[in-house]
Amino acid sequence: MSKPVRAAVFPVAGRGTRFLPATKASPKEMLPIVDKPLIQYAVEEAIAAGVTKLVFVTGASKRAIEDHFDTDPELERALDESGKTELLKTIRGIVPDGVSCCYIRQGVPLGLGHAVLCAQPAVGNEPFFVHLADDLIAGEPGCLNQMAEQFQAHGSSIVAVEEVPHENTSSYGIVEVANSDKGQRMTRIVEKPRPEDAPSNLAVVGRYLLMPEIFDKLKHTGRGAGGEIQLTDAISDLLDDADIYAYPFSGERFDCGSKLGYVQAMVAYGLVHDEIGESLQAYLKDIVSK
Ligand code: G1P
Repeated sequence: MSKPVRAAVFPVAGRGTRFLPATKASPKEMLPIVDKPLIQYAVEEAIAAGVTKLVFVTGASKRAIEDHFDTDPELERALDESGKTELLKTIRGIVPDGVSCCYIRQGVPLGLGHAVLCAQPAVGNEPFFVHLADDLIAGEPGCLNQMAEQFQAHGSSIVAVEEVPHENTSSYGIVEVANSDKGQRMTRIVEKPRPEDAPSNLAVVGRYLLMPEIFDKLKHTGRGAGGEIQLTDAISDLLDDADIYAYPFSGERFDCGSKLGYVQAMVAYGLVHDEIGESLQAYLKDIVSK
């Protein structure tokens, strides 16, 4: 049996320029899908996979994330006094007992690889998840849970993948794989190749389960695509020493880093929401019939 994965890293330092002006003063990870911010979906997925240490790699104007996962005695008192017990329970349950939060500042915007390296002091010498909150994945069990299960079977690093239209390869890390008895073993990974250079249309989505050896690779990873230190390049280096598997998760992914994906997620989650699902369905039927 492999060690259980207890730490998850959430790189949340990016400024979210694609969502300006909404993200001028508040973090893109705090954008809500119905009534819950994206980062809370991320944290819930990690906790459901057995994580007890949440490591946020933050940057400028991200304080709202810390506040969200902190207690708020004043709000709790107000909810209590007005008898809103269900809401009070919801607010108190955001970070369950036994789960801790840790915040590390990424002082310079040097990319995803650099953000993950910043998390090393909090993660230590353990396997860990990396979760990009922009990629919201609906489905049960959650994607990280599925990956944890795979990890128990083979004990190697895993990246979650899905097929994308070939013309979109330049937006993703793209992998080449070979079938093996343990799953799809990665043979190559390239960051954001042009379609004509892409080894496949199998794209990495924002879920990784990484062995701590990745940190040594990241320390030596130079600037890659976009002038940033790319996690993809460090994974490519790790491939020289270790097996890494590409995992085609089950679930529906929404690219909440794009406006269209974000609105699609809002509609999909709205339609299954207890409070508004039925009314939203009626409304949508009505507007498409016009
Ligand atoms: C990052 C990674 C990329 C991955 C993508 C998934 O890119 O660098 O390899 O495919 O996340 O969402 P970003 O979307 O941050 O540009």
